[in-house]
This record gives sequence, structure tokens and C-alpha cells, in this order.
Amino acid sequence: MVSRVIPVQAFDLVVFGGTGDLAKRKILPSLFRRFVAGQMPRDAFVIGVARSELDTKSYQDLVMSSLKEFEPELVASAELEIFIKQIKYVQIDAQGDFGWSDLADKVRKDAIQAFYFSVSPSLFGQLAEKLYKYSIASQSSRIVLEKPFGRDLSSARALNAVLKEHFSEDQIYRIDHYLGKETVQNLMAVRFGNMLFEPLWNSQYIDHIQVTVAESVGVEGRGSYYDQAGAMRDMIQNHLMQLLCLIAMEPPAKFSPDAVRDEKLKVIRALDPVNSSDIVRGQYSNSGSDKSYFDAVGNPSSKTESFIALKVQISNWRWAGTPFYLRTGKKLKARCSEIAVVFKETPHSIFGPDAGSHRNALVIRLQPDEGMTMDLTIKEPGPGGMRLIDVPLDMTFAEALGPEVDAIPDAYERLIMDVIRGNQTLFMRGDEVEAAWSWTDPVIDQWVSKGSKPSKYDPGSSGPEDSLMLMHKDGRKWREIS
Ligand code: BG6
Repeated sequence: MVSRVIPVQAFDLVVFGGTGDLAKRKILPSLFRRFVAGQMPRDAFVIGVARSELDTKSYQDLVMSSLKEFEPELVASAELEIFIKQIKYVQIDAQGDFGWSDLADKVRKDAIQAFYFSVSPSLFGQLAEKLYKYSIASQSSRIVLEKPFGRDLSSARALNAVLKEHFSEDQIYRIDHYLGKETVQNLMAVRFGNMLFEPLWNSQYIDHIQVTVAESVGVEGRGSYYDQAGAMRDMIQNHLMQLLCLIAMEPPAKFSPDAVRDEKLKVIRALDPVNSSDIVRGQYSNSGSDKSYFDAVGNPSSKTESFIALKVQISNWRWAGTPFYLRTGKKLKARCSEIAVVFKETPHSIFGPDAGSHRNALVIRLQPDEGMTMDLTIKEPGPGGMRLIDVPLDMTFAEALGPEVDAIPDAYERLIMDVIRGNQTLFMRGDEVEAAWSWTDPVIDQWVSKGSKPSKYDPGSSGPEDSLMLMHKDGRKWREIS
């Protein structure tokens, strides 16, 4: 059931920020999994780069201990020793000249070269410049950038401009890890691989769409970054915006990078400005031993939101009149990400007023328990009148696809392999990121200019009360976070 593994070509992946959290938690474990799966070949190398004074041996030890921590089931495999030998280390000074010649010696000219900038965006420009100055990168090299890609339109534009001094757009891979999630790609498969949904996929049949990305964790030691960002910049501008694009875009002519990204861009450009009455922001308070948001970020006067809900409208022929409700937040009652496409009621009920009102809903669960549910209306079993009930047609991918589903790669595994394969379909293009900020900036300006504070909500709840009102006032209801 799971796709065949086709090994990629030999590569050198240079990870700037090689001792950082993302490298230890995601990048290196993902590479190891691809190695065990047979996709990363034995002539591929990972070169960790950081300013710490380490040599290759001590870096390999560090990688070994983080793999033990994050991939405990895989470390017993015989492949570990071989994988570790494919790891090197170079100490550099990103802002000075130390170490760059050493890096130039280690990066092979005859292999695919990818440079992963897992560092503060303030260093992106300098890294790009140094890779060029020391002739390390060539016109076929790729650079991979982590979010945040700017904090507003002007900083995103400045970043794009600095990168484009040395790299062309087809060399730049801006990661949004949501695009690497299996179910997010399934959204495209469901929409464009089935005849069933497309005729109904518009405002004539769809009442509204709700997208929830709820987390049960708090800001988790990232307080200083998060307090400058908040849920709007951290999640809506990128992850939820990408989900919205995939739900709302027109069918691209083919599944190729620019065809897909052109269609996503049209959606972002068709987004209406958001009214202040359609925005609800929240901040979690403390409960029992759980710290409040203030305590977690160490800023008792913070006005940053850890929760946001918005009603968004798309002004185009397909979607005019169908609202999209987006919500995301931390310290909520469960970790639950889903997209619910809620259809309109039938135009006339032949069963009379007692049958009640019923709406079909297609629910795509991103995590946990990836799968899809279709809520259908059927007759309540038993004698008596024609009473209707809604039942879910449930398909959990783990059950439907069998035990091999465990082998489905994590988002980073897929995305890193796509970089090596040179496939940009699941990466954001520069104009897309700028368009997303053009829509986001005025939304943020509304509360910044008023100095408004987010409403409080209890950890473990569904967010602030006003977020429920956002839908109630339209005669609609959020699905339970569970
Ligand atoms: C990151 C955000 O991009 O996504 C985090 O910066 C958030 O704040 C994370 O926790 C959520 O990702 P996932 O894959 O756990 O849903």
C-alpha cells in the first residue's frame, strides 16, 4: 500500500544550525529514517555546521545520542553505524571567514548540494553571500529555509531580495512542514483524484468550511520567539493559509510546482480583508500547576495571542458567500487538526419538519489518527415514523491501509527528499509568501493600532467564549475539539 522507495541520487546536505533543536529533533532523525528505508544512498553525506567547537567524531556522538532520544525504535538497527559514518562536521563563523574554506573542501562538486538554513532568518543573507563568495554553491545547488519567513511583508520582501542576489527562485525551498504531511497531500488526492466531490465543491453546495489546528501543548520553551509572533504569524499566515489554499484552489492543469503554486497564489490574492468583528484572539491563563501564557513567555504585559479564530471570505466565483472559519491555539483541550467541509441542507425536506435539519460534512483529520469521515443522514433504525439521524462513514487511514501505514514518512522526511529530487511542489514560492503577508499585515494592524488585549481562556478548554460566538452569530457551530 505504501509507495515504493526509489533511492535519490548522491547528495551533500549541509545543515547550518547542525547542533540546534530542529536538526536534532527533525532533520537528522528524518534522514536516518530515509536511510533505513533505503532512500538515502550510501554515497550521500550530511555535513553539520555550527559555531560550536566540535570535530566530526564528537558531532557524530551528538547525532547518535539525539537519534537514541528521538528514534528509539530504530537505533537498534544495524544501519545506525553506517549512517553515522555519513555524517561530518564543520565549525564556522557565519558572520566572519572562519571555517568556510574547510566547508568548501568538504562539499563535493559532483553530488547534489543542498544547504539547509536551520538558523535565525537574520543570518540567511550572510549565509547565501558566503556560499557564493567561497564558491561552495553552484547554479544547481538548493537552499532550504525554515520559517519564519519574515514577520511582515516588508521583511519578507527584503529576505527574498537578499536571497535572489545569489540564488534563483528554482533553487529556493521555503519549508512549510504542513505541506509535507500525508493527509494534507491527501486533500489534493481527494479533490482532484475523485469525480465525487468536484461538482459539489463550491458555494452552491457548501455552507461553510472550518479548519481547526488545536494543540494541547503551550509555548514550550520558545517563549521569546512566540511572544513576538503570536498565533497569527506562527500558524495562520503559513500553515492554515496553506490548508485554505489547498481546499479552495482551482484544479491545476497538472501536479507540477508552478501549476500548483499559481493556483494557490490566486486564492491568497482573492482573500477579503477581515473585519475586526470577525477576529477573536485569546491567551491562556494558568490552571493548577499549568503556567499561564504570561509566565511561559516571562512577559506579564504581553498582548500576544496564543489562540486565534477568524472568519475569512474568498471573493471569487467558486467561493463568494461561503465563509471559511479558521482557528488555532495552544493549551487547548486536545491535539486535533481537521478540516470540515460542511454542506448545505437539502433544498426541501420531504420528511416534514419533524425530521430536523441535517447537513452532510466531509471531515479530513490531519492529526492524530489521520483519516476521513463523511457524515451522512440516514433513517433511524426501528419501527415508527421516518426519523433521521446523522452517522459517520469513517475511514481511518491506519485501518484502511493496514500495518504498513506506519511506514508513511513524516513531513520532514518527504520534504528533504523532495529537495534532493528537485521537486518544489510542496514548497512555498516567494510571491506566495509575500501575498500571504499582504493579507496578514492589515489583520494584525487592526489590533496593534487599537492596543487590544486577547481574551483569557482556560488551559484545556476550546478557547475563549467569544470564539464560539463567532460562529453562533452566523447560526453555525464549531465541531468539538477532541
Ligand atoms: C510550528 C509552529 O510551525 O508548527 C509551532 O511554530 C507549532 O508553534 C507547530 O507548535 C505545530 O506543528 P505540528 O506538526 O505539531 O502540528
